[in-house]
Amino acid sequence: MIKKSLRILFLGLLALQGTVWASGGEVHLDKAPVDITDRESVIRGAETFVRYCLNCHSAAYMRYNRLGMDLGIDDKELMARFIYAGDKPGDTMTVAMDPKMAKAWFGTAPPDLTVVARARGADWLYTYLRSFYLDPARPWGVNNRVFQDVGMPHVLWRLQGLYEPVVEKDENGHEVITGLKQVQTGLMSPEEYDAFVADLVNYLVYMGEPARLQRMSLGPWVLLYLFVLLLVLYLLKKEYWKDVR
Ligand code: HEC
Repeated sequence: MIKKSLRILFLGLLALQGTVWASGGEVHLDKAPVDITDRESVIRGAETFVRYCLNCHSAAYMRYNRLGMDLGIDDKELMARFIYAGDKPGDTMTVAMDPKMAKAWFGTAPPDLTVVARARGADWLYTYLRSFYLDPARPWGVNNRVFQDVGMPHVLWRLQGLYEPVVEKDENGHEVITGLKQVQTGLMSPEEYDAFVADLVNYLVYMGEPARLQRMSLGPWVLLYLFVLLLVLYLLKKEYWKDVR
């Protein structure tokens, strides 16, 4: 029995190692500085999201007023800062774009982004939004290091500027992209753009599980309650056993 489980464990480890090797050639993902308790950052990210992403992508499971509730924003401010195109605070973040048209324009309809942070992970998103590069062979003139032949245009290029790939030959003589270099500056410096994308990713992570904010603030109280309960039960136990002994 023990031998068998050891063997399974060993095979599991072997498989794990295999995947580590296999991903050796993939692009390194930068660590996203996510902190969904940073309210200002999530709000900035939400503003970016409705301004730059919502014209193509929906977030059909996210209601504007949920955002308002979690971040302490009233309906009036929600309307002024976040809601375009005649939506109401109780509406979800949908887009007017017809999916069939979208498919014709982009090759693929832009997917709903409500839970994309859970599907892709924050680091992937953070890297993806900073990895577009010029590629004349693509319909929008850009490609992406972590999403080869992506159908999405680089919608933030005015802010980030434009990048060209740095191409080198690997040991087998294949040309590989080893990095990106800026060929046109944007409205933001690279540091400003990184911080801007970090806020956006922070918002996407929050949106993937809005209840987490509540859970995180509830957690310490639950632990405190359990601790107090433990104390009471311990004293009770002592009281009961006093007479038994
Ligand atoms: C002009 C339309 C358009 C805009 C604006 C746009 N996207 Fe996209 N996006 C697309 C399309 C089309 C795809 C599908 C790409 C594919 O599958 O090849 C996509 C794909 C993605 C993906 C990959 C989803 C997945 O898991 O496959 C992410 C993440 C993403 N977009 C994030 C964003 C964010 C964040 C913004 C706002 C800064 C944004 N997009 C703005 C068109 C758009």
